[in-house]
Amino acid sequence: MANFETVTVETDLLICGGGMAACGAAVEASYWAKKNGLKVTLVDKAVMDRSGAVAMGLSAINQYVDLNSGANTLKDYCDYVRNDLMGITREDLVANIARHVDSTVHLFEKWGLPIWKDAEGKYIHEGRWQLMINGESYKVIVAEAAKNALAEAGGEYFERVFITHPLMDGDRCVGAIGFSTRQNKVYVFKAKATLVAMGGAVHVFKPRSTGEGFGRSWYPPFNSGASAFFTIYGGAEMTCQEVRFIPVRFKDAYGPVGAWFLLFKALATNAQGGNYMKENAAELEKWQPYGKVKPAPANIRNWLMMLDVMDGKAPIYMQTHDAIKAIAEKSPDEKAARKKLRELEAEAWEDFLDMTISQAILWAATNVEPEKRPSEIMACDPYFIGSHSGASGAWVSGPEDLQNEATRQEYFWGYPHMTTVSGMFAAGDASGASSHKFSSGSFTEGRIAGKAAIAYIADHRAAPNVDAAQVESLKAQILKPLDTFAQHSKTTTDPDVNPNYIRPTQFMYRLQKIMDEYAGGVSSQFKTSGKLLEKGMELLGYLKQDAACLAAEDLHELMRCWENVHRMFQADAHMRSILFREETRWPGYYFRSDKPSMDNANWLAFVNCTYDRKTEQWAMRKRPVKYLTA
Ligand code: FAD
Ligand code: ADX
Repeated sequence: MANFETVTVETDLLICGGGMAACGAAVEASYWAKKNGLKVTLVDKAVMDRSGAVAMGLSAINQYVDLNSGANTLKDYCDYVRNDLMGITREDLVANIARHVDSTVHLFEKWGLPIWKDAEGKYIHEGRWQLMINGESYKVIVAEAAKNALAEAGGEYFERVFITHPLMDGDRCVGAIGFSTRQNKVYVFKAKATLVAMGGAVHVFKPRSTGEGFGRSWYPPFNSGASAFFTIYGGAEMTCQEVRFIPVRFKDAYGPVGAWFLLFKALATNAQGGNYMKENAAELEKWQPYGKVKPAPANIRNWLMMLDVMDGKAPIYMQTHDAIKAIAEKSPDEKAARKKLRELEAEAWEDFLDMTISQAILWAATNVEPEKRPSEIMACDPYFIGSHSGASGAWVSGPEDLQNEATRQEYFWGYPHMTTVSGMFAAGDASGASSHKFSSGSFTEGRIAGKAAIAYIADHRAAPNVDAAQVESLKAQILKPLDTFAQHSKTTTDPDVNPNYIRPTQFMYRLQKIMDEYAGGVSSQFKTSGKLLEKGMELLGYLKQDAACLAAEDLHELMRCWENVHRMFQADAHMRSILFREETRWPGYYFRSDKPSMDNANWLAFVNCTYDRKTEQWAMRKRPVKYLTA
């Protein structure tokens, strides 16, 4: 493409992404970079103030361990995560983040984030690990700190630049390539170390929303598998690619349920008023030892609810009015009870207004008064978000000091949170097997990985070798959809219907249909089997061939093309991993009908995979699960 300028940026550390993990990395790495005379550069496909999962704001900080007060220990947090993930977790990573996360929360507060406090000035908890916040401007506050830190250390940031591929020098990552979503420019970032923090993936599966609501999903539509593609394509070993997350949310606008369950102590019931957690409790025996832990793992909570849905007992309702009434009734007199009721009503609406504004709009549009009647909830479609209650991501090295003899051999190979590719680090949704990091933990992991990346650069000071032929070849590949459209779009009367190409929206529909029907999406009640997966993978193979025929009318569509290529690789890794794991471990996330039980003897193990971009072949392997303590 002759009319595309190539902009080359040379840096020491490149941070890909501008979300929570990337901002944490920018803050911490800038501090260490300044001391070492190094440069940090950050690149985001969007605008940092409102990019990523925290764009709309959040109503809680979900990871605060409160180590100093002695309320909890690191082991408490590791146990919580281990149980919630049905045993599959890297405790060295979880503990590394948990031991530093409180200091991150204190920084957020110092930067101006309002955290709810009681009359004694103590943080108000939503649950054991969660703090309530007025978080509409959470991301703006965090982005400002990151930008300030970069500026103070002589770093820079680029917005509206979409990263497509890593740049490789043999087995080492030496930067990234992408394009501006607003100008005809290809960006080549040459770096001594690269930190991947481009979030998880949505719209790999068909969403529940269609037609006028299409695009509305729980997970933000802006995160489309870039982290997964970047690490997979670079040859990094990936882990837990089968561990998708399906949140339960208020129906159709995806409002959060945490505050209702934990703060307001609301009950969710089936349409007949039955408590599915109690009525379906016999099912818990099948999933021991995790079936009966407290709190019940997120997938088990889903599963007991789904059993009722499959039994025809839907709709499922959050009994909001009962919960509000029960709290108000604890007031000393009627006047105080009325005041409390108004307070709770305001808190209920604020919970949505702080982070899922569309749910407040939907409530208003459908005359929902939470203090008067219950509200419908449902299981969403599957998402890839390793920082929340999923676990998919790259396999990264743990810290040296937390390992025991058994874990050291398996989980430690050098710089903390570096992938198996030299010079490529990962944090937040991009790193796997360390769930329940959420916003605060992702920022913290970014800090840890950012500091480690600077240490790596200090040990590898030579300028990176970026092969010009590799850059030219990638540039041609990246821009090809524009050429394809320009060349063929005039040969039919409707540019959507053309035998020479496929537009990104159509491509996405095909991907979503395959995943929905063969890999256990919404329409299949989250059920799949070996045979279904094999067929789905065959169909995905044809889609892969057609990826070469993607066409883009403009820069925006070019972004859409690459988002879908990224999603396709995430889909591939997902199906392979479900197929490889011959059991059902997370009912409520997915159910393999041909392997309907948990098999701890054979499958208390990580499923890891690696892709070879030269041969286009995948290799699957098991890695042992080893805990820090019994
Ligand atoms: P993100 O913060 O999502 O950042 C990803 C970044 O990558 C963005 O800047 C994006 O623009 C960029 N990017 C993506 N693709 C590219 C590309 N190709 N090129 C360049 N840049 C790219 N946590 C809590 O603590 N409390 C809560 O109440 C809470 N609620 C949540 C509600 C929702 C709806 C969701 C989805 C998450 C919630 N979380 C909550 C979790 C929290 O938001 C995530 O754990 C956290 O944001 C993950 O950080 P991250 O940096 O990995 O990803
Ligand atoms: S979020 O999207 O805002 O992060 P949500 O509001 O559902 O999610 O949950 C917030 C936190 O509460 C998470 O840590 C989640 O694991 C936890 N949580 C939600 N519901 C329950 C429940 N019923 N029991 C225990 N923990 C829960």
